[in-house]
Amino acid sequence: MAGLLAPSGAAHARLLGLGAYRPSRVVPNSEIVDAIDSSDEWIRTRSGITERRWATPEETVQVMSVAAARDALADAGVDAHQIDCVIVATVSHLSQTPAIATTIAHELGTEQAAAFDISAACAGFCHGVAMASDLIRGGSAGHVLVIGVERLSDITDRADRGTAFIFADGAGAVVVGPSDEPGIGPVVWGSDGERADLITQREMWPEALARGEMPHLTMQGNPVFRWASFAMAKIGLEALDRAGVTVDELDCFVPHQANMRIVDALARSMKLPEHVRIARDIADMGNTSAASIPLALERMKREGEAKSGDTALFIAFGAGLTYAAQVVIVP
Ligand code: UT7
Repeated sequence: MAGLLAPSGAAHARLLGLGAYRPSRVVPNSEIVDAIDSSDEWIRTRSGITERRWATPEETVQVMSVAAARDALADAGVDAHQIDCVIVATVSHLSQTPAIATTIAHELGTEQAAAFDISAACAGFCHGVAMASDLIRGGSAGHVLVIGVERLSDITDRADRGTAFIFADGAGAVVVGPSDEPGIGPVVWGSDGERADLITQREMWPEALARGEMPHLTMQGNPVFRWASFAMAKIGLEALDRAGVTVDELDCFVPHQANMRIVDALARSMKLPEHVRIARDIADMGNTSAASIPLALERMKREGEAKSGDTALFIAFGAGLTYAAQVVIVP
């Protein structure tokens, strides 16, 4: 038997740069309430959303991803040539193959980086960060670009009361690279396929297309709400524990922006102290699934609520059901 050389990588990995793309079209509650027999007040009270962004036809998944990625590369001071791997988390790239990561890598000008998409819904970005960290520490990549991007407006039924007011569009990206100190804590992740039907495509492509429609999303909001509000607090505390960080040492809490009431419920259940700054990007961005955490962190940094070197907790959860949480040092 040949003696293979074992792969070996960097001692640690960390987030080096962060970028975001917010679509230009602002859609206030008033624009959507008639089609779903709702009201601005109901939507604000139940979800905390006042407006969201829906991409224009020109703001494709590719366009939004490349813009967010360029921002992240500039923020990191890393050239596209240094990127060895591009991971795109999305459920709204509408072509089955190839992965959109390959054309994004090409447009950015990487040197034929490995490129693939992952489908873990709203938890996709945190899955990507965990994988990037392990790829770097394992020696498979030097620098990894992780993008969370969605155009959920394409697959949302504007007349569906359960989803039309929630889902939205946008992109966020991070560059992950080698580090002397730990910058990404152990991931706590998992799935519960028994509840796969709680958030799902309403039908398969052929059935939808036969009716001249997109295969729209459908969600049983209330059971998802209860699951996220209670079970995810435990996952967040476990991620803190595995990273050796206490709630008192935490600076920022950046949960998936699914519903403002879930954000508040998680902060309460985890007994986060007053000083912990909490991401509330959902109010005017809606639920952008895989893009929501990098978008929320980008806003916190821009508005001075988070600064480089802060300790932040990510918790993401969504269709699958899937979830992932990790502690990171803010780039
Ligand atoms: O991102 C992936 C993970 N997704 C999530 O985490 C989303 C989790 N779920 C949620 O955010 C919430 O469940 C929603 C915001 C979607 C809904 O809020 P809820 O408090 O769970 O409302 P509900 O579905 O229990 O409905 C309460 C009431 C019902 O009326 P009755 O039976 O109390 O008379 C609904 O018929 O509100 C009614 N309702 C609406 N009313 C106005 C349901 N949808 C609407 C609507 N407008 N759009």
